[in-house]
Amino acid sequence: MEKSCAVITIDGPTASGKGTVAHRVAKHLGFQYLDSGALYRLTALNAIGNGVALDDEASIASLAKVLPCRFDHGHVYLSASDVTDDVRAEQIGVAASRIAVLPLVRQALVELQLSFRTGNGLVADGRDMGTVIFPDAALKVFLTASAEARASRRYKQLKEKGIAANMEDLVKDLIERDARDSSRTTAPLKPAPDAYILDTSDMTAEQAVQQVLDWYAQAATNV
Ligand code: DC
Repeated sequence: MEKSCAVITIDGPTASGKGTVAHRVAKHLGFQYLDSGALYRLTALNAIGNGVALDDEASIASLAKVLPCRFDHGHVYLSASDVTDDVRAEQIGVAASRIAVLPLVRQALVELQLSFRTGNGLVADGRDMGTVIFPDAALKVFLTASAEARASRRYKQLKEKGIAANMEDLVKDLIERDARDSSRTTAPLKPAPDAYILDTSDMTAEQAVQQVLDWYAQAATNV
């Protein structure tokens, strides 16, 4: 039987830096990269675009099953439209968090996520990569950072893009989203029992990347 390629999972709450870290680790190792949050965001965007209510589980699951998405050189497409910026909008993140509580929607996205496991290996980031989607990952990391550290990173990103933001609102939104992502019944945000926990509140992205690479080197020698 063909052996599946190695997977590194990086789960964690909103704005914990997992996207940056996962992307850089994948680049360093020459692995594929799966931003699973983008799939939930694209599904939410697609539902909104089709006028589907965000609690209409069956209709959203049907859309998710045939999600017409494409990732190309840092750009994200929904059918032929480049939605790279739209998909990162705060309100789409909130909509994604709302549809992510629906079990049929999560189920509908499983196969698409598994299809990223090709080539030399895969780095997958999200909320349930290590617990549900890739339980046999070679390395599982759970990234955390304080709500204040995460809000201040988000604040900086938004400012850089010229988008007005308010720290108090950002902290409140993050705490609300963490609560919704952690308390849902299906695939809640939580570390896998065998995950390494990395608190990045006082770390640079480079330090976090190096730590993940060191853990992976150790894990690879133990295989
Ligand atoms: O990582 P992100 O902020 O792009 O994710 C957006 C939302 O999608 C997040 O609030 C919860 C949901 N999500 C999920 O439930 N499971 C995943 N594996 C990834 C994201």
